Amino acid sequence: MIIVKKEHLNTISKAINEYAGIVLERIPQNRVEKKIIDQMKQLDCHNINDFVELLKNYKNNSKIMDSFISEITISESYIFRNPKQFEYMINSFFPEFFKKNNYEFPLRIWSAGCSHGEEPYSIAMIAKDFIQKNPKAKFVINAGDIDKTCLSEAQKGIYKSKAMHGKIEYFENKLGFHIGKRDNNGNCLISQDIKDMVDFHWLNLKNISKLKIMQGSDIIFCRNVLIYFDEVLRKKILETFYDYLNPNGLLFIGESECFSFPSNTFELLDNKGSYAYRKPGSK
Ligand SMILES: C[S@@+](CC[C@H](N)C(=O)[O-])C[C@H]1O[C@@H](n2cnc3c(N)ncnc32)[C@H](O)[C@@H]1O
Repeated sequence: MIIVKKEHLNTISKAINEYAGIVLERIPQNRVEKKIIDQMKQLDCHNINDFVELLKNYKNNSKIMDSFISEITISESYIFRNPKQFEYMINSFFPEFFKKNNYEFPLRIWSAGCSHGEEPYSIAMIAKDFIQKNPKAKFVINAGDIDKTCLSEAQKGIYKSKAMHGKIEYFENKLGFHIGKRDNNGNCLISQDIKDMVDFHWLNLKNISKLKIMQGSDIIFCRNVLIYFDEVLRKKILETFYDYLNPNGLLFIGESECFSFPSNTFELLDNKGSYAYRKPGSK
């Protein structure tokens, strides 16, 4: 029988935090212990000390760390999660953005911590609708996650009914097209044209210097991700998002998240529950 002791958890916690910024203590301990045991079985590793050593020395074998991160992180997401954010983009942000720049520039959006792609594909769907109505509009949609398994699922774009419990029908009616083909079990294969609108990347938010790829974004989604990090890293990431957003750019966070922003940075938009923070800019 494998016994996970506090000293093992402490060493693993340190390694995970160093690599991904994740605070292991924010994840329920029984989940962590179960995942440690599952991983050891998969690796055919019978000694907990050996497993801890492998994670501790992740720089020599990042595959083990990647697969452990994939096991412990909670990647729950669904299509059109927090519909008010999508409504706000459709009704206000998109028309105002293109009116202001006269369709000269594309609207650049990042989905940071995109899980299996539910979030960036929801963005692509409303962008497709906007383009159909305003053919001169252009969008650049990037999405990233630390979990390689999630990313490869995202690229397939196949969703079980669990990921489809958002306001899908409401949006399909509003947009006037189906988001993809359904099979008899209610699974959905996202349409190729929507898949083609999103570029997926491996992304580790802990590597602040690598977040430069987000420079020049007009909208950054980082929903239900920052809760796993400590205050110091969260602050650094939020400051970096602020720097890399264009003036008037938006940051969307999750509806159960509440962060304090320094008063001279983001302002909360009062748009009825959309959890949108705006970087002030020229009017
Ligand atoms: C709960 S999901 C959120 C998915 C989506 N944003 C949403 O709100 O529906 C959290 C995601 O954050 C990712 N994540 C955790 N740590 C990360 C890191 N250091 N860098 C990038 N992504 C990370 C996880 O792999 C997971 O897919």
